[in-house]
Amino acid sequence: MTIYINKDETVFHLEMKDSSYIFRILENGELQHLYFGKRIHVKENYNQLMAYEKRGFEVSFSEEFEDIQQSMIQNEYSSYGKGDFRHPAFQVQGMNGSRITTLKYQGFELKKGKNRLNSLPSTFDDIGQCAETLTIILTDSILDLTVRLNYTIFPKYNVLVRNTEFLNNSNNKLTLLKAMSLQLDLPDSQYDFIQFSGAWLRERQLYRTSLRPGIQAIDSLRYSSSPQQNPFFMLSRRETTEHSGEVYGFNFIYSGNFQNMIEVDHFDTARVTVGINPVEFRFLLNPAESFVTPEAIVTYSDQGMNQMSQQLSDFYRHHLVNPNFSQASRPIILNSWETFYFDLSTEKILDLAKAAKDLGIELFVLDDGWFGHRKDDKSSLGDWVTDRSRLPEGIGFLADAIHKIGLQFGLWFEPEMISIDSDLYKNHADWTIHLLDREKSVGRNQYVLDLTRQEVVDYLFDSISKIIIETNLDYIKWDMNRHITDIYSIELDSEQQMEFGHRYILGLYQLLDRLITKFPSVLFESCSSGGGRFDLGLMYYAPQAWTSDDTDPIERLKIQHGTSYGYSPSMMTAHVSISPNEQSGRQTSLDTRTNVAYFSSFGYELDVTRLSVEEKEQVREQIQFYKKYRSLFQYGDFYRINSPFSCDSASWQVVSKNKCQSILLYALLNSKLNPGYTRVYFSGLDKDKCYSVSGFDEFFYGDELMNAGIKVSLSNLALCVPEYLTKLFVIEEVVCKLCK
Ligand code: DGJ
Repeated sequence: MTIYINKDETVFHLEMKDSSYIFRILENGELQHLYFGKRIHVKENYNQLMAYEKRGFEVSFSEEFEDIQQSMIQNEYSSYGKGDFRHPAFQVQGMNGSRITTLKYQGFELKKGKNRLNSLPSTFDDIGQCAETLTIILTDSILDLTVRLNYTIFPKYNVLVRNTEFLNNSNNKLTLLKAMSLQLDLPDSQYDFIQFSGAWLRERQLYRTSLRPGIQAIDSLRYSSSPQQNPFFMLSRRETTEHSGEVYGFNFIYSGNFQNMIEVDHFDTARVTVGINPVEFRFLLNPAESFVTPEAIVTYSDQGMNQMSQQLSDFYRHHLVNPNFSQASRPIILNSWETFYFDLSTEKILDLAKAAKDLGIELFVLDDGWFGHRKDDKSSLGDWVTDRSRLPEGIGFLADAIHKIGLQFGLWFEPEMISIDSDLYKNHADWTIHLLDREKSVGRNQYVLDLTRQEVVDYLFDSISKIIIETNLDYIKWDMNRHITDIYSIELDSEQQMEFGHRYILGLYQLLDRLITKFPSVLFESCSSGGGRFDLGLMYYAPQAWTSDDTDPIERLKIQHGTSYGYSPSMMTAHVSISPNEQSGRQTSLDTRTNVAYFSSFGYELDVTRLSVEEKEQVREQIQFYKKYRSLFQYGDFYRINSPFSCDSASWQVVSKNKCQSILLYALLNSKLNPGYTRVYFSGLDKDKCYSVSGFDEFFYGDELMNAGIKVSLSNLALCVPEYLTKLFVIEEVVCKLCK
């Protein structure tokens, strides 16, 4: 499996484990996309795929190439204004105001491995043994513009990574109006578009609709990837399920404005583009300057959505997530937010930490409220110094005491923000994103710092570093609780103001990069009013993210189920919280809350000092159980079996890579009195292995568990917990007595 280039160097076949991606150079020097799908044989030419015909009412490229009509061709990276009337992948404006470009092939470069990008999060193959990278070099001779299309294949995971570089070789200014990272022209539109949309407290809900002529898109203009639309999406065949059928999964390694779009044209072809949202984007390229787009990824499976998600999870673990944490066990957290909110004292914190330690918890996280004079959400953001009125001995003392208890220590920060009631604002009001002649918009009583300015990034780096050193910190929760408005930076010329969004994100990435480099052992968890900035850009620096402020386990079934399509369980954090739930008021058992939270990087958001003796014993056992199966929960192959979006139950399973161990969660969402037996079906086991299943005396072959399932009577239990019941099944391989 590799990248094949035919003898006359006109056809490029990127061959992965189960998929092939093929394109070629057209007679006019442009690129024609030929195929992306299930793996096919390598050949010199694919004449039938290369064919195109001329149609009346379509426009020819030129008199010389009058047979080439861009609208009749699957394009690789299309421009606008030469006969392709679909949305283009890029637009560059020359000095005369024109946006017409024709990119012609100049050559290619091929190399083993994959370098990281300089100032953006990216995929990597540091050892250079897994990936292969092809760069196609194109130029527009009139503008003196070079465009480099980068393709990296990670064959084992069927993952293709793409991005583009634009280089101004001319003596004039050029302006980039649109610069998408990935384009994929599919030959038909018989697909379902599966997106993950939501809001605060209900992130990443699954929506599945059939493609239709015109534009379908998910996007963000909030300067954050947002809880409203997650950048991950899928295109699946209509009949595709979790277990079978073709599906493409797309994602964007970026945390700001994005636009992921599918356009179905009058010939029923489907064009996918993924990249920075061109609304609110423009980038000036002075002579010799270049622009590098963030990376986009696409993966393909013909074995259904579970396999697609598993490919992505394994890929992220080896080629995206910070290697300091990508293989590591994630600690069991106790987060103080729902226990204290802003009502903190050293004594209360230490009591909670001791109780946490006694139960087996490993990391204590002090959430909002420990700094400045923050007694509510109206003040102190930006003042990253201890609030001595409530923590008189200082944060260093507290950290020390928590370390002595035998716990790791973590702190909450919201670095990108500033409160008007803060010392930072008194000294540097001008660091706030604002326009001098307009009133500022406000969100959660706070404003956003202008991270396009180096001095602001430096200030944050210094003040966060000081706290990390003072506390010997193990973990940071990096929150972000409002979206950006009043876009303007005094740092930028008027013609560069539309660069703000991208430059803000570059400032954020620079800050994170410097911190993880200086403090490689600190685990970062991202958060944005829950799971509002859950994207691969942040995952590169912060390997886990708070999935939602909604900790109700029944709601979480949907949120975690939706999230699991594009992200792995170790990336999601889920905490056991109080019942009735603080957000929904719903009552659930401790078992149910714990069972749902297990399928993640696990923790508690609970005043554990107030648990009864029996509850404490139960929590101790639950923590022991998680520790025993932690690597299975965090890094096992995750299967979705029943969907809470379409069934009365939800069911998930994790299976170890060697298929010797597995745990299945069955969650009944609507119980009825006097029900029949329920069949619980398993996935991903070895059909010939013999297994024990907790609660059953007999042994089962894998094929029996997967095909016949097991009969479970829920009637008695359903009456005890009238509405919501969850049950875990632990499956272990046994030396088979049956086989003897
Ligand atoms: C929003 C987060 O989602 C919560 O978990 C908590 O950290 C609060 N912010 C603190 O203000």
